[in-house]
This record gives sequence, C-alpha cells and structure tokens, in this order.
Amino acid sequence: MRRSSSPPWFGGRYQGQVAVVTGASSGLGVQLCRDLARAGATVIGLARRREPLDALAKDLSALSKGSSTMVCDVADTVAQRSALQLIASIHGPIDILINNAAQDPGIRLVDITEGDFRHTFDVNFFAPVAATLEVLPSMLERGRGIVINVSSDGGRLPAPGPGAYPSSKAALSAFSESISYRLGPKGVSTHVVYPAFMGTELGMGALGRGLRKPPGMATRTEETVSHQILREAGGPGLEISVSKLIDAAMLFRNLMPRTYRRLRRNW
Ligand SMILES: NC(=O)c1ccc[n+]([C@@H]2O[C@H](COP(=O)([O-])OP(=O)(O)OC[C@H]3O[C@@H](n4cnc5c(N)ncnc54)[C@H](OP(=O)(O)O)[C@@H]3O)[C@@H](O)[C@H]2O)c1
Repeated sequence: MRRSSSPPWFGGRYQGQVAVVTGASSGLGVQLCRDLARAGATVIGLARRREPLDALAKDLSALSKGSSTMVCDVADTVAQRSALQLIASIHGPIDILINNAAQDPGIRLVDITEGDFRHTFDVNFFAPVAATLEVLPSMLERGRGIVINVSSDGGRLPAPGPGAYPSSKAALSAFSESISYRLGPKGVSTHVVYPAFMGTELGMGALGRGLRKPPGMATRTEETVSHQILREAGGPGLEISVSKLIDAAMLFRNLMPRTYRRLRRNW
C-alpha cells in the first residue's frame, strides 16, 4: 500500500524493521528517528539528555508502536552494549544500526590535550565500532542488516584546526570501508554518510568558533540528509554523500593538491 507522498514511505522497506539511532536528542538523529518511525520501523533513539529524549519518545510512540528512546552515554561502550542487548531482547534482533552520535571538542590546537582526543575518539569512533561489533553476529546469522556510520566531510577534507574531530571521522570512514568488503557479500550493507553542513547544535557550534559558513551548495537541512540516507540505505553504494560540491572539492584536492592546500589554509 502506498502512503501519502509526504513524509516518504521509502517503498515500505523499513516497515517492521528494528532500528537503533544514536545521538537522538537533537539534529539529524531526531529527524532519522522520526522518518524511520513514519516509515513503519520500530525505532529506539539513544543519547544522554533525558528531556529531549522524553519529548521525542512521545512523538515516536504515536508514529510507530513500540518506538521509544533510552538514555545512554555511548562513550561508555559497556552501557551501550547493554542497551543494545536490552533493545534486542524486547523488540527482536536489530536490523538497522545508525551510529550518528558525535561530539566536536572545539578546542584550539594550543589548548587541546591528549585526553580531549581520546574522548572525541571514544564518542565518534570507538562507540560506533563497539555498537557495530555488538549487532553484527545476529545480522550475519540472519544474512541481512544495515549499518550506517555518520561521518563528516571533515574526515575526508580536514579543515585547519586541532584535528580531533576530523581524525575521529576519518577513522570511522576507514573502518566502514574496510568492513563493507567483508559484510556486503554476506547480506549486510555498510554505509558511511557525508552530510555536508547542517545548522544543528554541532554545526552552529562550529560556526560560533569561527568556521566560515559553507556555501548553499554545501548546506543541507536535517530532513534532506535523513531522506537521502533512507533512500540510499540498503543499496550497493558505500558512501552516501549529500553535496556534489564537496565531492568536486575532493577531486580538486587530488588533482591539484598544492593549490588546494593554499586555498584550504584560510577556508
Ligand atoms: N551539523 C553538521 O554540519 C555536520 C556535518 C558533518 C557531519 N555531521 C555529523 O552528523 C551527526 C549528527 O550531528 P548533528 O549535526 O545532528 O549534531 P547535534 O544536533 O549536536 O547532535 C549530536 C547528537 O549526539 C549526541 N551525543 C553526543 N555525545 C554523546 C554521547 N557521549 N553519548 C550519546 N549521545 C551523544 C547528542 O546528544 P546528547 O548531548 O543528549 O548526548 C546529540 O543527540 C554527527 O555524527 C556529526 O558528526 C554533522
């Protein structure tokens, strides 16, 4: 049965699926949870802040029975694993894992510490790795599943700065690409998302610290990004790249590295 064209129904392929979205208290995570619930999935959103999660849980349960949220600090991978196990015991095996939670320490190079790097990697890299390893055995056993890791264009085109956020995202992208070769033939799709710029808490925080506002062709709403992710998820492509302008910048960087670096210094 075809539902109304707004919101998208994604061909019904999410109906009855069990999906977990980390970073569900704001920005892209909220949008992904809502879109998946509207498309018929049972969605569980994880994050640390209880209040926004409670508000989202109300919306989600009205959209799809059983959908809810859970407070979880994903940097605590033991707690995250327990949360995933609890979800699977209540709702059944997890079909879709979206590792979306992230933090950007936003500390200047002269002030940043090794501990800041470690915490950034705990949230942006080790948490997605641990969550993926937790859900994989069941996905492989069933021969199906989708793992979506939300990376950043900063991971492939690092901006000038301390490098903690972009290096954690570059690691996440490399992890996603490596496992995709092994998982694809076994029925599990892996995707790495490059969302361009979104005016979320994280995005606005970066602007507040002096990031130059990206042009319109590299700026997207959470809704546009979420819809593109859900259109492409489960397909053969590894990368879900939202901005063609940034894809072109990647090409430019490879073809003219010196000119690129000269321009990038102040970009
Ligand atoms: N905005 C952009 O321009 C942009 C560009 C490229 C990539 N991205 C990526 O897009 C994804 C979504 O970010 P967003 O823009 O939507 O930012 P956002 O609105 O700031 O959302 C970040 C989410 O991560 C959660 N989070 C942070 N630390 C956490 C932790 N330790 N445990 C659990 N949850 C945690 C936050 O929730 P709590 O604080 O409640 O825990 C929040 O829900 C991120 O992976 C980000 O790197 C964003």
